[in-house]
Amino acid sequence: MENRPQWGTRAGFILAAVGSAVGLGNIWRFPATAYENGGGAFFIPYLFALLTAGIPLLVMEFTIGHKYRGSAPMSLGRLSKGSEWIGWWQVAVAFVISTYYAVIIAWAMSYSVFSFNLSWGEDTGGFLMGDYLNRIDLDGGAIGDFGSLVPGVLIPLVIVWAVTLGVLFAGVKKGIEVANKIFIPALVILFTIIVIRALTLEGAAAGLDAFFKPDWSKITDGKVWVAAYGQIFFSLSIAFAIMITYSSYLPKKSDITNNAFITGFSNSAFELLAGIGVFSALGFMAAQQGVPVSEVVSAGVGLAFVVFPQIINEFPAFNELFGFLFFGSLVLAGLSSLISIVETFVAGVQEKFKISRVKAVVIGGGASALLSLVFATQGGLFFLDAADYFINQFGVALAGLFEVIAIAWFAKELKNLQSHANSMSDIQLGTWWRVCLGLITPVVLGYMMFDNLRTNLT
Ligand code: PFF
Ligand code: NA
Repeated sequence: MENRPQWGTRAGFILAAVGSAVGLGNIWRFPATAYENGGGAFFIPYLFALLTAGIPLLVMEFTIGHKYRGSAPMSLGRLSKGSEWIGWWQVAVAFVISTYYAVIIAWAMSYSVFSFNLSWGEDTGGFLMGDYLNRIDLDGGAIGDFGSLVPGVLIPLVIVWAVTLGVLFAGVKKGIEVANKIFIPALVILFTIIVIRALTLEGAAAGLDAFFKPDWSKITDGKVWVAAYGQIFFSLSIAFAIMITYSSYLPKKSDITNNAFITGFSNSAFELLAGIGVFSALGFMAAQQGVPVSEVVSAGVGLAFVVFPQIINEFPAFNELFGFLFFGSLVLAGLSSLISIVETFVAGVQEKFKISRVKAVVIGGGASALLSLVFATQGGLFFLDAADYFINQFGVALAGLFEVIAIAWFAKELKNLQSHANSMSDIQLGTWWRVCLGLITPVVLGYMMFDNLRTNLT
């Protein structure tokens, strides 16, 4: 344990944590989620979720990693004997996510190149899916072909893995820290340029209007609150083993609580920025097509790879540059998150089997890279959606629920963690922190699970 790797600087750790948090979820998930759940009114449940669950959980995970100095399974196992499996569960979830996250980043990389001659043409949906959509038969079965790769995805996929594994080979300080110190400032600059440009487009005001217009009636809808907590958990990379792993590389004296606040607020700031940029662009597109903004709102793969190419097509000038900046941002945001998820299982495997970092990267990263090929086939596209849905609805919420219950209720460790964090911080955690984790978070996560089951079973 003595020669455990360490971050070189405090900023290095914060940038890495922010790098993990800021990802596709900020750019393609948050804007539509906010829009559909009350627009401007969504900010109330959202802020509530950030302050009662997001930041308290981030503090808790940072403290666990810092105090027990191990990957998620090792740290949780040291905290209480019976909890190691929760860490492995999280590692497994992270592994699954990494296999398809890499493919999405590879697409974004191809699309940043396609931007240069707008190779997606007029029918952007057809370009992405080929005849995939036609092959989904009406009974709902997907008859994609597993034998053929989505065209043009292989080379970028190889690059994505080469960068990710290369960074991890180089280690915590020389690899992960250096990469994030480059990627995150670059991302902020690229993305800010896009947002400013988007804001000056015709129709942007109508887009922003649609985004911020509050629908107060939504505030009393339980679904809206579930959406707010769900967005916060996913967006802060909580209960994915990541934040425990990253904080296990902190030096002995670290202001953990402060770091958690900075990470949480930075992620939300980027989310807000993305909401403004995406809705300005959607407002532009609605104006071009002469339809209301509500008709062009979308999220996920459809937003990034179907709608944005259309927006780029209709751009008044410098379409290529705008496209390159947009997809380049997706690549940077995605890579820094992918690095963090792969690191969690690399660290877990390395410590469990007492092998070298290099071996762990080859085994863990190699396995994920090979599996990602499945998602790069035309048949795999269907599974990408299914895997993402299943992981988000059940994998993460359950992992978070087990984690807080094990720590707060079974091991009764919250008080010890609280004094550990308080001994090093300007910000003192009070009883409120234990109430958030011991009561509010388990109740909300429990309700989320119940709600997911109910909607899936009916
Ligand atoms: N927090 C990232 C986002 O908001 O996009 C997504 C993410 C990263 C999810 C890493 C899960 C993960 F393991
Ligand atoms: Na995020």
